[in-house]
Amino acid sequence: MIILVVGGGGREHALAWKLSRSPRVTQVLVAPGNGGTARGSTGPSARIRNVEIVDVAALAEFAAASDVALTVVGPEAPLAAGIVDVFRARGLRIFGPTQAAAQLESSKDFAKRFMQRHGIPTAEYETFSDAAAAHGYVERRGAPIVVKADGLAAGKGVVVAQTLAEAHAAIDAMLVDNRIGDAGARVVIEEFLAGEEASFIVMSDGQHVLALASSQDHKRLRDGDEGPNTGGMGAYSPAPMVTPTIHARVLREIILPTVQGMAADGIEYTGFLYAGLMIDARGNPRTLEFNCRLGDPETQPIMLRLKSDLVDLLERAVDGRLDEVEAEWDRRTALGVVLAAAGYPEAPRTGDPLIGLPADSEDCVIFHAGTRVLDGQFATSGGRVLTVTALGDSVRAAQRRAYDAVAQVRFAGQQYRTDIGHRAINRRAPPAAPASPRE
Ligand code: AMP
Ligand code: GLY
Repeated sequence: MIILVVGGGGREHALAWKLSRSPRVTQVLVAPGNGGTARGSTGPSARIRNVEIVDVAALAEFAAASDVALTVVGPEAPLAAGIVDVFRARGLRIFGPTQAAAQLESSKDFAKRFMQRHGIPTAEYETFSDAAAAHGYVERRGAPIVVKADGLAAGKGVVVAQTLAEAHAAIDAMLVDNRIGDAGARVVIEEFLAGEEASFIVMSDGQHVLALASSQDHKRLRDGDEGPNTGGMGAYSPAPMVTPTIHARVLREIILPTVQGMAADGIEYTGFLYAGLMIDARGNPRTLEFNCRLGDPETQPIMLRLKSDLVDLLERAVDGRLDEVEAEWDRRTALGVVLAAAGYPEAPRTGDPLIGLPADSEDCVIFHAGTRVLDGQFATSGGRVLTVTALGDSVRAAQRRAYDAVAQVRFAGQQYRTDIGHRAINRRAPPAAPASPRE
C-alpha cells in the first residue's frame, strides 16, 4: 500500500522511516519532505520519496489520484487548517484531528475552558483581550506567573515571567504592540506550576486510546537548560520520571477524560494527542498544554523504540478499533540529539553543506529535518537540521552512542547540546521501573 505523510521535519522523517519498514507498505510519500526523505537519498529508505505539494486541497486531489491508502499528518498547521475535514469529505482515509478538535492546540483559551469544564487538572487561569484588565490580574496574583498567547505562535507565545515587570512587558508585547499578530490578540494568564515536565503522547480513535512510550524533551537551546526556547533540542524515551503510578494517573485523570470529554462535547478527538505535563514533587500530574500531533523531537526516539507495525496501529485507529491492539516497545532507551543551524532559533542560516553523516545502523539512525539535496550533497535548509537518534541499554549508553555519531557530522555553524538526557541520568532516585507495564 501507498502511505502519505504530511510535513517535512524530523518527526515526519521518523514516521516515514518507520512506515517504510512495514512489509505491507510499497511506498511512503512525504509532502513536502526533506533531504532525508528525498528519493534514494538514504540507503534502506528507497521506498520513501517526496511530493512537492503543501496546499491542502491539492494534497487531497493528489492522494485520490495516486491510490494513497492512508494519510498521516505531522504538524499542527495543516490540522488547524482542516486537512482532516477536507480528506474525509472526499472519502479519503486520514489519521488526525478535525479542525474543531485541533482547537485543543490552536486555541489555549479553548483548551483551558475545556479542561475546566471536565475537571482535568491544569493551572488556574483567566483569559484577557483587554490589557488594563490583564495588568490588574497579574498585580493581584503576583509573580512568578505565566502569560500565553491564545493562538498558534510557533513556540514564541509563552512567557514564564519570574517578575511582575516581565509579566507586564509580555502583556504589552502581545495585547498592545501586537508583537505576535492575531495569535496574541487574546492572552491566557495562568498560575506558575513547579515540577518536572514530561511529554505524554497517545493515539486516539475517538473513543479508545493507545498510549505511546513516554518521553521527555529539552526545549532550551543551550546546555544546562539555558538560553532561548526552541522547538526542542533533543529527547529520549522512556522518561524514567513517568513511573507506572504516574502513567496510570495521567491516563485516568487527564487523557481519558479529555477523549471522553471531547466526545461528550460532540467534537470527537481522533489522531495523536500530546499532553505536555508538569509533574510536581509529590507525583501529581497537571496539563500545561495539549498538542494535537506528535512531538518533534520526541517522535524520533519513540519511533526507534516502536517494534509493532505502525501501519497496523494507524489502521486500527482510523477504524475506531484501537482497543484491539497493543504496542510493543524495544526495552532499550532511545535518545535523540538535534543538530541545529547557525543562528537558530532567531535567524537560521541555510545552504551549509553537510559532511561525514554516518550510515544508519540497527542502533543509530539519522533523521533529517532542515536539509535538502543540493548537487548530490546534503545542505542545510532550516533551523533544526538533523536528529541523531540512538538506542542503548541505559540512558547513558544511548547518549554515548548518539554523541559518537554526532561527532562525525560536520557543517558550518552547527549547534547542539552536549547534555541531552542529563535529567534522566542525574535523577537522585534509582532508575525507575519502565514507564508502562507494556514497555
Ligand atoms: P506551553 O507551550 O504551554 O507548553 O508552554 C511552553 C513552556 O512554558 C512549557 O514547556 C513550560 O516549560 C513553560 N510553562 C508553560 N506553562 C507553565 C506553567 N503554568 N507553569 C510553569 N511553566 C510553564
Ligand atoms: N517538542 C515539543 C513539541 O513538539 O511541541
